[in-house]
Amino acid sequence: MTEGWCVMKPLKIAVAKGRLEEETLALMEKAGMDCSGAEDKGRKLILPIDQGRLQLVLAKAADIVTYVEHGVCDMGVVGKDTIMESAQSLYEVMDLGFGRCRIMLAAYQDMDFYQGFGVKTVATKYPNIARGFFERKAMDVNIVKIEGSVELAPLLGLADGIVDIVETGGTLKANGLEEKELIAHLSARLVVNVASMKMRKTEIEAVISRLRDAGAEAGLTEGAVKAVLAGA
Ligand code: PRP
Repeated sequence: MTEGWCVMKPLKIAVAKGRLEEETLALMEKAGMDCSGAEDKGRKLILPIDQGRLQLVLAKAADIVTYVEHGVCDMGVVGKDTIMESAQSLYEVMDLGFGRCRIMLAAYQDMDFYQGFGVKTVATKYPNIARGFFERKAMDVNIVKIEGSVELAPLLGLADGIVDIVETGGTLKANGLEEKELIAHLSARLVVNVASMKMRKTEIEAVISRLRDAGAEAGLTEGAVKAVLAGA
């Protein structure tokens, strides 16, 4: 593999299908990247962006960290929840400012989750985040992994509480649950493979800088477009 060939290869950026995909493409467009290759994509999963300089790889959120860690994608756009949940070795370089929500402990509206001495059961899509949260409190809990609609677990009597994403709070409210404690604020983050950050630093920094400027222009403030390149 010659150096010249390596430099000509498009950078691969993995993005979670759905909402983050739309917001990422909107930001790329604002950054002057031609995203017409992503229109009428049908079932295609790899799409040319920015006149072929980038390839958008559409993946499941949890797989993005895997692809970026393994270096088969140079960069990725993924929620902070996915980063927190996976043991990962990658650079988290920028808070993109969209996909804002929070991960919370929630339980029945009239329930004091911390009352009583019995070991509580908590249902979640995020067992590692939940385990870490309760370990920091030195609290023993049973954690049950659920794949979706986690709010069902307390309603069905499987769990005393849930650790889950809350955006509007509508799902909790509609099901008689409420937020009990904030675990973390979340948003979409730009992540970079460790080796790519060294081998393709100039190209990757150019992408970061274009996205950061576009974000700033779009009014994403409060650290939303802060590049965190320490150690890279
Ligand atoms: C997420 C989350 C909550 C809901 C919160 O689920 O797990 O169920 O959104 O949103 P809200 O606060 O605006 O009501 P998602 O829609 O991703 O589906 P899932 O539960 O099947 O994973």
